[in-house]
Amino acid sequence: MTELAVTAPELDAGDAAPIEAAREEVLVLDYGGQYSQLIARRLRECGVFSELLPHDVPLEEVARRKPRGIVLSGGPASVYAEGAPRLDRELLALGVPVMGICYGMQLLVHELGGRVEQAEVGEFGRSDLHISEPGVLLRDMPTEQTCWMSHRDTVFEPPPGFTALASSSSSPVAAVQDTARGIYGIQFHPEVVHTPYGQEILTRFLTEVCGCEQTWSPASIVEDQIRRIRAQVGEANVICGLSGGVDSSVAALLVHRAIGDQLTCVFVDHGLMRKDEGEQVVSAFRDTFKVPLVAVDAEERFLEKLKGVTEPEAKRKAIGAEFIRVFEEEAEKLADADGEPIGDRPARFLVQGTLYSDVIESGGGTGAATIKSHHNVGGLPDDLQFELVEPLRALFKDEVRAVGAELGLPERLVWRQPFPGPGLAIRVVGGEATKERLNVLREADHILQEEIRKAGLYRELWQSFCVLPDVRTVGVQGDERTYGYVVVLRAVTSDDAMTADWARLPYDLLETIASRMINELREVNRVVLDITSKPPGTIEWE
Ligand code: XMP
Repeated sequence: MTELAVTAPELDAGDAAPIEAAREEVLVLDYGGQYSQLIARRLRECGVFSELLPHDVPLEEVARRKPRGIVLSGGPASVYAEGAPRLDRELLALGVPVMGICYGMQLLVHELGGRVEQAEVGEFGRSDLHISEPGVLLRDMPTEQTCWMSHRDTVFEPPPGFTALASSSSSPVAAVQDTARGIYGIQFHPEVVHTPYGQEILTRFLTEVCGCEQTWSPASIVEDQIRRIRAQVGEANVICGLSGGVDSSVAALLVHRAIGDQLTCVFVDHGLMRKDEGEQVVSAFRDTFKVPLVAVDAEERFLEKLKGVTEPEAKRKAIGAEFIRVFEEEAEKLADADGEPIGDRPARFLVQGTLYSDVIESGGGTGAATIKSHHNVGGLPDDLQFELVEPLRALFKDEVRAVGAELGLPERLVWRQPFPGPGLAIRVVGGEATKERLNVLREADHILQEEIRKAGLYRELWQSFCVLPDVRTVGVQGDERTYGYVVVLRAVTSDDAMTADWARLPYDLLETIASRMINELREVNRVVLDITSKPPGTIEWE
């Protein structure tokens, strides 16, 4: 994956936070817990915008955002460890309700004079919770329930002024509250599904403690973003590189909704797409949504650049470089149409489908100096002086899909599996991506996609695709010896592509796929299945 610094002169930390003031927000401060992201996500699922920030985010930044509530996440440290992340006591003086989860609770208890100690045994996994005093968070719930724990330090006594609400098998104090100061703590993890009443507890905090109205929804995201894009862009022209993937599609549609024909999309068809995907993109955007679209058929140019290139990184580079060339040419033509060269138009904008996960990966949500390039745009060079419009910067992938559906994007586009920018070229492995090999691969891939969809498995799989190694094997068909290509089937399940497992596709489905490929594709006489997880393998072969 390429990472590039794109100059974004007008973006500062304030702008990077996508929509503010107009909507209610609860901040999650990250103390390094494995579920921190999940907390933010669950709060959003409760209809309240939530963002994860580093635990040491400056207090002024927290205050500036006027959150309705603050959640302190879990984390691996012990409050007694040297260098353990601390709590800024000023945070409690902001007059904003605070809830600590796991380490977050221990931190509150420790700072405010309660007793936290390392217990003899840790408490990991499912645990029984006994509610002694429901308080605000645990009201109207069974007094005996299960919950998910993951801690070694344990709270033995709440701080002065706090009430203990519950205990568990190994935690004498598993939940606390001080309603007067608006401070709450729970030792277990309400954000994981193994805590059956977890979502209810989070909802209680949001509604009864923070007074949130739960209005965050795909429709409200669309409205907010439209307002914001208009304010950012004004009368200027905007361009967007459309790849056919869900991120750039949704970003483009949102921007079009906001500023209409000030937006022009550029779709570079490098000839390395899946079967019919180029046409689907053009037809959806140009015909259905009436978005001004320049579609460039650049297949021959790309094939020319791929001649003789076999090494994976060289292939990626050749494709990336050519992509930029074509994109720049088109961008310049667009500027020329207005009679002005692009370099003299500082108010020109470029839409990027950057997601929240990209922001986090590239070092957090508050700074915007280095922005991970949208892979599918191919990685634009940093001397392209565009200002960025990033309407998906606050969203998780599933929220992007929900927004896409809200905007009327066809289901096929909304649910499209990830597809690498360099396309099929990096799936013709160990050899040159020639037109002939790409065609064989494209047809095989088409059969796989059709059968996976027919079996109703498309959405369950993170990715499903074929790989065409530069290998031929001997076969026998109709009494004749054949010497044909081997097609590799690769299907994986994953949450984020960081790790992946090979998908256990049903045998009957595999048989149908293999026999269709061998019968329908003259060049193919063998089909094999990749059963490697990631790690140790990667998802792609190159
Ligand atoms: P790997 O193969 O590293 O892939 O396990 C992780 C995810 O990234 C995608 N991928 C790419 N996407 N350009 C892209 O736009 C690339 O060069 C590239 N290489 C891998 C891959 O499909 C998977 O979703």
